[in-house]
Amino acid sequence: MSSLTNKNVLLGVTGGIAAYKSAELIRRLSELGADVRVVMTRAAQEFITPLTMQALSGNPVHTDLLDVAAEAAMGHIQLARWADIIIIAPCTADFIAKLATGEGSDLLSTVCLAAKSDLAIAPAMNQAMWGHQATQANLAQLIDRGVKVWGPASGEQACGDVGLGRMLEPSEIASCAEACFDSGVLAGKKVVLTAGPTREAIDPVRYISNHSSGKMGYALARAAAEAGAQTILISGPTNLPPPADVEFIAVESAEQMNAAVMARIENAQVFIGAAAVADYRPVQCAAAKLKKTASETMSIELTKNPDIIAGVAETNQVACVIGFAAETDNLLEYARAKRVNKKLDMVIANDVSQPGIGFNSDNNNVTVIDANGETEIAGLSKYQLAKQLIQLIAQKI
Ligand code: C5P
Repeated sequence: MSSLTNKNVLLGVTGGIAAYKSAELIRRLSELGADVRVVMTRAAQEFITPLTMQALSGNPVHTDLLDVAAEAAMGHIQLARWADIIIIAPCTADFIAKLATGEGSDLLSTVCLAAKSDLAIAPAMNQAMWGHQATQANLAQLIDRGVKVWGPASGEQACGDVGLGRMLEPSEIASCAEACFDSGVLAGKKVVLTAGPTREAIDPVRYISNHSSGKMGYALARAAAEAGAQTILISGPTNLPPPADVEFIAVESAEQMNAAVMARIENAQVFIGAAAVADYRPVQCAAAKLKKTASETMSIELTKNPDIIAGVAETNQVACVIGFAAETDNLLEYARAKRVNKKLDMVIANDVSQPGIGFNSDNNNVTVIDANGETEIAGLSKYQLAKQLIQLIAQKI
């Protein structure tokens, strides 16, 4: 059952071209069991009709603050009290500014002022408007006040520009909404994760590393924290901000990662090794920058790094140890062997040779391998996939 079942979702629609996607969002939210009521601004009605939204939500659409009949039926204060969550999608730069200044100049802004429920916005606008100092300053105020900001995504825009400003897809917004009501399947549990690449120093300025972006591990840490777990994320260098409500430890090398994991694994019920740990490191890190020589070749002698996840499994103290198998060939064969050899409870196999999934991408197709068999999960963003994996893990423990 979805955590949105029987929840009252007030969907605010403001005037942007992405408003047509709100119709799809109503469907997604309804499928998950939510009761959806729609409030539209005047500008939103230029892009999509209240009739469409009424037909899809099965409820009358609210458009006017000063309509006597509508106020008598369900006025702005009742609407605000009714909502378990308010989601504004799309949310324009103008409406972000309204929320920031606390205006109550139309029905939607008034409902937002009167509501005590969670408020989430899915911004959608031209990339220059999104990047403008005024918009960013307004957003910072909203975030400070606890408003949830979902997106925007990057990509081609209706105006022809490319950049940040696209509204998240309806299914992603629906997932974010579900996460707000997740009852915490991992409440009271401790989850330790590794993520990102490691860097193995050759000399003070050079290192051996790999293309891991850390996205999958960070998405899993976010999903674990949202599921109520005490979450510790031990990460190699990435460009990602640490997820909210996660204890974050930054490391560089495999040896540092290993030490950080071993120092924190006690009393953990779940360990997820999503890091792309370098298997080998240079035997020596030169004290000074290595110089070019006359020779056409050079060799660096490497030595094996500790296998962090195998070390965790070896302790026999963690109920569920989950590893990743990122391969370019013989994916399932290698992944099955990894599960047995490293004594893992679950291996998540992904083919990093495929464009659009794997290391640097936002999506992932994986096969989950455990003692019960193999399940393919495809076509999801890394965050949606992380949420599904956390549910599977919770069932295991
Ligand atoms: O052996 P391979 O690197 O392919 O195994 C991948 C899995 O093992 C991942 O879960 C990765 O995080 C983990 N691993 C580790 N320590 C290593 C190498 C891999 O924890 N030294």
